[in-house]
Amino acid sequence: MCRTLRAFAAKPRSPLSRAAVRAYSAKPAANKSYEGEPLGPKSAAAVAREAKVGAENYAPLPVVLSKGLGCRVWDADGREYLDFLSAYSAVNQGHCHPKITAALSAQASTLALTSRAFHNDVLGEWCEYATKLFGYDRLLPMNTGVEGGETAVKLARRWAYDKKGVAPGDAVVIMATDNFWGRSIAALSSSSDPTCRGGFGPYAPGFELVPYDDLGALSALLDDIGHRTAAVFLEPIQGEAGVVVPGDAYLPGVKALCEKHGCLFVADEVQTGIGRTGELLAVDRVGVRPDMLVLGKALSGGAYPVSAVLCDDDVMLNVRPGEHGSTYGGNPVACKVGLAALSCLIDEGMIANAKAMGDALDARLKACVADRRIALATRGAGLLRALIIDDADKPGALAYDVCLALRDRGVLAKPTHGNIIRLAPPLVIAQADIDEAADALDDALKLFD
Ligand SMILES: Cc1ncc(COP(=O)(O)O)c(C=O)c1O
Repeated sequence: MCRTLRAFAAKPRSPLSRAAVRAYSAKPAANKSYEGEPLGPKSAAAVAREAKVGAENYAPLPVVLSKGLGCRVWDADGREYLDFLSAYSAVNQGHCHPKITAALSAQASTLALTSRAFHNDVLGEWCEYATKLFGYDRLLPMNTGVEGGETAVKLARRWAYDKKGVAPGDAVVIMATDNFWGRSIAALSSSSDPTCRGGFGPYAPGFELVPYDDLGALSALLDDIGHRTAAVFLEPIQGEAGVVVPGDAYLPGVKALCEKHGCLFVADEVQTGIGRTGELLAVDRVGVRPDMLVLGKALSGGAYPVSAVLCDDDVMLNVRPGEHGSTYGGNPVACKVGLAALSCLIDEGMIANAKAMGDALDARLKACVADRRIALATRGAGLLRALIIDDADKPGALAYDVCLALRDRGVLAKPTHGNIIRLAPPLVIAQADIDEAADALDDALKLFD
């Protein structure tokens, strides 16, 4: 546990008891199975309506959700599911957490938006809480994860010019292959994924890629361009790439190389942060303190788009008024939601629950790997887990079929990168829910034995 979290944890708090989880979550539906049933009429109508007028930039699993509470969601026709995606780890605190929704509606009906042309009376309160919790001097608020990443790149470049003395226009940010930090022009310019990148050039310069979890490659690149490198920008566990967990020596090694070459270590914890891996931050698993931290998603518990970059004065204060910002960043609703989302996560013991339930899920996934023909391997940390499917029978599509079979058994998950099923339920999940989902998964995998 990191130093700042220990200080917080010393405060009196109400741990998340199993009874509280049960009371907060909806009651499990007995013997849930929708196998072979088509989408219900309301769901089918919603899909057809969207198909006519919506863009086709996503390919959702065929399920239409209309309600959520805790780790459960319901579709438009009233079918109930365990959510094992949590909106890509945005809903760590569970759907519609009562403290977060209360903060949202109270602030929305008091003062929602002022822009940063004026101060508001809650930004300082949220910044104070978050900087103390994560252990940094300052916080810069934005809205989405990708804006957080863009902000970190700008702060790193500006620091490189103002403090490191890199020649104007020469700064480089090093990222890893298979990174994912969104789909803006800068994000796709630094992506190695042809789906994200292809056909959207020209690309922004100033990014270099090295293989992930390869200290030798990073060291060699830094020997070459360390003098003009502003930052090494990494996910501590690569989420979209398929929950790729680096060796324990990797992140401390990256930090040491950054220190050696006088560049910043930026951790993109948009997906891994805020309790997801069983620690407050994924970097806490190996005791590394990044120079800059990018947070998003669960910073609001899924109630509102809230992201932030945290760092110390030396980096943050190089950007002056007018040089960066966002109309909505740091708005009063975001601040109150952000405060509620962080405080309930800490006060209700969700991080410890993520660790315990993550271990329980891991044990059940390992049993699937031992028992089921197409379950190849499992990996992850806390409640960010992946099951790798042997898709030789149907390359690139078998994991999707498993997810459809899972849906029919009342559990929602989605493949990433073809044959990898990411499993990331809300951190309020209880043992009975883990067992229910694991039984459904085993049953779904059995179809392919
Ligand atoms: C590690 C990481 N960074 C950034 C982002 C982008 O976040 P957003 O979709 O909120 O822009 C994501 C989204 O999945 C992510 O996983």
